[in-house]
Amino acid sequence: MIVVLTGAPGAGKGTQADLLAAKEGFRKVSTGDALRKHVRMKSPIGLQAEAVMARGELVSDEILFEILREELGPDSGERILLDGYPRNVAQAKTLDSLKETHPVVAAIHLDVDAGELVNRLSGRRVCGNCGATYHVTLTPSKTAGVCDKCGGLLQQRADDREDSVRTRLSVYESTTKPVLEYYRGKGLYQRVDGLGSTEEVFGKLKGSLSGVKFR
Ligand code: AP5
Repeated sequence: MIVVLTGAPGAGKGTQADLLAAKEGFRKVSTGDALRKHVRMKSPIGLQAEAVMARGELVSDEILFEILREELGPDSGERILLDGYPRNVAQAKTLDSLKETHPVVAAIHLDVDAGELVNRLSGRRVCGNCGATYHVTLTPSKTAGVCDKCGGLLQQRADDREDSVRTRLSVYESTTKPVLEYYRGKGLYQRVDGLGSTEEVFGKLKGSLSGVKFR
């Protein structure tokens, strides 16, 4: 069973999906994390995707379907939080084609205004070793530039540079936002206000998920 966690770049999807996985027993599936893993491994997918991602554009639907099937695995009755997919209506329809094994039971939109998104993305730092995410002022590590969890070095993501951020926000507006309407039409859409501290947003998300019927 899949809960789609959607929202603009920087809305906090990854942060909240990690918390829900750690505290509420969901399995997080992030297409962005999976693609970054392929890039690090220099796999054929990674070699094709790297430059596209750095520019802030979308990787092809064909590659994403391969990633999706690889990451979802067989049906095991798990509650999966899907972060970063679907990003266009064609991908939403592709996901529906897997409904026998992986039905979508809710689509939660983490809603954050554009000014806050730019602030969150420009200050984001990610551990090059374990992938933990921080923000230089909003959620800083204890020692600047060093991961609290593993001592790895914190880095800026290639697609968090100003020109790539502009592209990602524009792709979100033109291509991903229609997905919200798609799920509204199916009666699965829920909006959650993504402003507030990480803990406050987590509380709102939990409230929203408590109303979801997991079959
Ligand atoms: P992906 O990794 O999915 O990136 P994204 O959607 O742009 O989302 P982000 O990871 O940037 O943001 P987030 O919402 O997870 O925010 P976070 O929690 O980190 O995709 C990357 C690329 O891969 C795409 O551009 C595309 O090229 C490709 N791709 C992936 N999926 C694809 C698909 N389906 N089709 C085609 N291409 C695909 O938070 C951001 C910052 O804010 C952090 O610093 C965090 O610490 C901070 N923060 C979070 N919450 C709060 C809070 N409540 N208060 C204060 N600070 C906060």
